[in-house]
Amino acid sequence: MTAPQQKRSQTGVVEDFANPPRLFVFVDGVLAPRIFHSLYRRYAESIELKGDEAILDFGCGSGGIAENLVRRVPNGSVTCVDVSPPMLAVAARRLRRYPNARCIVGRIEALDLSAASFDVVVIHNALHDIPEPERTATVVELARLLRPGGHLHFREPTDDKHGLRLGVYRELMHTAGLLELRGREEKVFPVGPMFDAVFAKTE
Ligand SMILES: C[S@@+](CC[C@H](N)C(=O)[O-])C[C@H]1O[C@@H](n2cnc3c(N)ncnc32)[C@H](O)[C@@H]1O
Repeated sequence: MTAPQQKRSQTGVVEDFANPPRLFVFVDGVLAPRIFHSLYRRYAESIELKGDEAILDFGCGSGGIAENLVRRVPNGSVTCVDVSPPMLAVAARRLRRYPNARCIVGRIEALDLSAASFDVVVIHNALHDIPEPERTATVVELARLLRPGGHLHFREPTDDKHGLRLGVYRELMHTAGLLELRGREEKVFPVGPMFDAVFAKTE
């Protein structure tokens, strides 16, 4: 179900996200959630929610954002999707107390989730890690999963070493038929410049 994906990471090491090295899982899955705790909390809190939304956290990693979202949707749900079984295992442990959270491993296009089944999609620091030839199909699939009127919350790095240019992200969203409601580049400590935006599915 999960195709191995090779990508040069921030540290310069080639990571296979479907089967990452243990050190990567330890750093990204155990240390980073502690270090980035308030970054995740602040980002999750910036997303407006009523409490009954079905949320998809795409490329959830170890679940730092999902944990902060699931508490805010007692009458809704959070679905975490990631290609990495060990990262998802960390997320599942973290979310085990929440019956309205589920974790699914695999590439989003291969999961056959129902169209328009999510009110909110979150992409945080994950899209740039997807190999270029797969990015459009990924975003088109995420747009398919969003209900009309639903919002896609997006924050991705824009520096040349690690992220993608702002225009590349905008073009991907435009190709998937999503409308930018607001967006700006901002410095997020300790990640660096990021494109923080909200897109809507209008039909
Ligand atoms: C830098 S981590 C960020 C995780 C989390 N969103 C956060 O902000 O902490 C990027 C995540 O994207 C996942 N990923 C990479 N390619 C993916 C794909 N094609 N589909 C789903 N997840 C993917 C990786 O396994 C990794 O957990």
